[in-house]
Amino acid sequence: MEKPAPVEFPVHDLIKNRWSPRAFSDKPVPKEVLQSLFEAARWAPSSNNEQPWAFIVATKDDQENFEKSLGALIEFNAGWARKAPVLVIAVAELAFAKNNAPNRNAQYDVGAASLQLSIEATSRGLFVHQMAGFDPETAKEAYNIPQGWEPIAAMAIGYPGDASSLPEPYQTREKAPRSRKPIREFVMSGEWGHTAEFVK
Ligand SMILES: Cc1cc2nc3c(=O)[nH]c(=O)nc-3n(C[C@H](O)[C@H](O)[C@H](O)COP(=O)(O)O)c2cc1C
Repeated sequence: MEKPAPVEFPVHDLIKNRWSPRAFSDKPVPKEVLQSLFEAARWAPSSNNEQPWAFIVATKDDQENFEKSLGALIEFNAGWARKAPVLVIAVAELAFAKNNAPNRNAQYDVGAASLQLSIEATSRGLFVHQMAGFDPETAKEAYNIPQGWEPIAAMAIGYPGDASSLPEPYQTREKAPRSRKPIREFVMSGEWGHTAEFVK
C-alpha cells in the first residue's frame, strides 16, 4: 500500500513516499540490505561528530532476541510489530565520550540517524515504523545496556504487507489519510509566531 504525502510544496519522492505502516510482509530482509540501512545511519551528521547512537537489531530468525525486543513493546505496538521481520532499539549515549559532559543533542542525533536509515529503507522498497511505545527499562535489562546509554525508540522494519489482513484498530489507522500541520504554522521569521513570507 502506498500513502504518498499530500505535499504543499514539491519534495523528493523518497520523502513523499516514506510512511509508517503497521502491515508487514513475512519476507525477510537480506543481510546486504540491513548492512546498507545501518551504513546510512552511520553517515548521519551529529553534534561534534560524536555519533552517540547504537542500534540493537533482532531479526525474526533470531527468535530469542526477537522475543526480547517484542517483550519491551507496549501491547498496542506488539500487536502489529510482531509481524515485522526486523525489530530495532535505537539507543543514545547521553554524555560525550571524551569528557563525560552532557550531550544535549544526543537524542536529536539518534533521530537523525534513524531517519537517514528510514530514507535508505524507502529507497529499497522497505518501510520503517518507529515507536515510542516501549519500556526503556525492559530493554536495558534484556540487552544489558550500560549506564549512560538510554533507549530512545524502537523500530519495526520490513517490506510492506497487506493492509486488509490487519485486525482492528490497526486497519482503520492504516487506511486513514496522512496529515500534517500546515507549513505556515511552524516556519517563522522575524519574531516567534510570525509566518515566514516564503511559505504564505
Ligand atoms: C519517535 C516516534 C515515536 C512513535 N511512536 C509510535 C508508537 O509507539 N506506535 C505507533 O504505532 N506509531 C508510532 N510512531 C509513528 C507515528 O505515529 C507516525 O510517524 C506519524 O503518525 C506520522 O505518520 P507517517 O510516519 O506515516 O508519516 C512514532 C513515530 C516516531 C517518529
